[in-house]
Amino acid sequence: MIYPVLKYGNSVLETPAQRVEKFDAELEMLVQDMFESMYAANGVGLAAPQIGRGVRLAVVDVTVGKNPEAKMVLLNPEIIRIEGEQREEEGCLSVPGFRGYVLRPQYVTIRAQDASGAEFERRGEGLLARAFCHETDHLNGILFLSHLSLLKRDLTRRKIRKLQKAGEW
Ligand code: NI
Repeated sequence: MIYPVLKYGNSVLETPAQRVEKFDAELEMLVQDMFESMYAANGVGLAAPQIGRGVRLAVVDVTVGKNPEAKMVLLNPEIIRIEGEQREEEGCLSVPGFRGYVLRPQYVTIRAQDASGAEFERRGEGLLARAFCHETDHLNGILFLSHLSLLKRDLTRRKIRKLQKAGEW
């Protein structure tokens, strides 16, 4: 099932998500739906709060479906090591139409559980490292807007407020 992606302004997006404790068929279904919803929206990552589920689950595929081996399920992810820096433009399916430069580590090692509950570690570079940070942020109720410069952040928020008032958000 394809879920609509919630937009900035919805409080679920700014609420820290709960740990996943039960690794059952229901969770597997949710993971499936998360991938479907992410691909339908042409995203490289999607966190459960973005579809209104306050649990620590995110899916990532920086190849946008081109390489099945790039599909990653992150349950209860934690960033355990960061190295270097990268400053690139970042966007978010919950903030459509807006992008901004965000400073992130160039390498990020994440520790998480897969859909069966097995723990794994993975070191990502570049876009994957960025996705690890962006999705972990989502699970902590943080949007990329928080990492923009104060000026850019205020400007973006004002534009979104206008769209909200016009009923176009
Ligand atoms: Ni996002």
